[in-house]
Amino acid sequence: MASQRELVLNDSQAQHCARMHEYLVGQITAADGWLSFERFMDMALYTPGMGYYSAGAHKLGAGGDFTTAPEVSRVFGACVARQCAEILSALGGGGSILEIGAGSGRLAADILLRLETLGELPDRYWILEISADLRERQRRHFARYLPHLQGRVHWLDQPPEESFDGLILANEVLDALPVTRFRWYSGRVEELGVVVDDGGFAWGPRPASAAVTEACRRLAQAGGAWDDGYVSEYCPRLSAWTHSVTHSLRTGAALWFDYGLPRSQYYLPERHDGTLLCHFRHRAHNDPFLYPGLQDITAWVDYTLLAEASRAAGFTLAGFTTQSFFLAGLKVDHEMRTMAGDDATEFARLANQARQLMLPGEMGERFKAMAWLRGLDLPLSGFALQDLRHTL
Ligand SMILES: C[S@@+](CC[C@H](N)C(=O)[O-])C[C@H]1O[C@@H](n2cnc3c(N)ncnc32)[C@H](O)[C@@H]1O
Repeated sequence: MASQRELVLNDSQAQHCARMHEYLVGQITAADGWLSFERFMDMALYTPGMGYYSAGAHKLGAGGDFTTAPEVSRVFGACVARQCAEILSALGGGGSILEIGAGSGRLAADILLRLETLGELPDRYWILEISADLRERQRRHFARYLPHLQGRVHWLDQPPEESFDGLILANEVLDALPVTRFRWYSGRVEELGVVVDDGGFAWGPRPASAAVTEACRRLAQAGGAWDDGYVSEYCPRLSAWTHSVTHSLRTGAALWFDYGLPRSQYYLPERHDGTLLCHFRHRAHNDPFLYPGLQDITAWVDYTLLAEASRAAGFTLAGFTTQSFFLAGLKVDHEMRTMAGDDATEFARLANQARQLMLPGEMGERFKAMAWLRGLDLPLSGFALQDLRHTL
């Protein structure tokens, strides 16, 4: 745990936290003292002007709360660009890329710059971004690092309405979709909501609805026998969300990157306290009630659920692998050599970053890559070295 000194909030953070706390208490009171965790997480992340993603927290990188693969190294974006190039080329060139949740803008910039050198620039690079301050940060990043390509980048408030050919991608966005939290007993299921207790927030169990109970029964069959008191979560809105962000893609691919597991591993009996993961100033913990509005709240992705949702949305599963094998399949070593040229020091620096992206104890195994194709059939290099589709 971090020391008290390190976690002291400055005045504006303390005020923000207090306002968000008061707002959430009001919402719980208005809901007769009990709010589903899904609603609580939604409000803590997305309430206009106050939620973690809607207000002005710094979020990514040094001075923020967490780091992501594109923040670790531009090698990640270069490899993703190679994968995009294969798809855009199969579409005959041009096309559009839609990135959801672009963070600091690094991934978009790294992809566009590499696609330029590969001769596969898309006509448009759309960004669907919920956070106003991150949009501004993205704009500044592009103005600085790719002024000549800025004209291709457009921001969207909603998924595009017009049909397009190309690809959709997102890194570490699915984990932010609000989840339902439950506790399992043989014969009954409780939904864990949020109540106010002594001025703070606490878990409040109540008998689960028929829909939640039915969902939990299905999950219970996936991972083995759960003991009484087993706690976990699932994402009831993943399917509708996936459909809404992909419906206008006519021909092309969707590429998803995030930490997660196939269902049979996600719901193993030994993972008896779920996968909630919160980030505040580079500390990861599992208490979603701390620092409301100031900390990120996430849950691991159930990749089997994503597979079901994507299949229902008319996609064909083209690949599922770890981040490590994805990068290796896209010749990460070649990308590093191209970037470093003759500079041995730069090569060593990139190799260190690649280790962080690829080692099993770092981001290499927890993070997965998944690819879906619609109206297109081609082998994808990022998924050539390891095929985990049978685990879904
Ligand atoms: C953890 S950050 C990842 C940022 C970036 N993709 C990266 O890898 O560095 C999550 C990003 O998704 C955005 N976001 C969160 N929920 C979203 C949603 N429902 N729709 C669109 N963007 C969302 C956030 O504002 C942020 O840009």
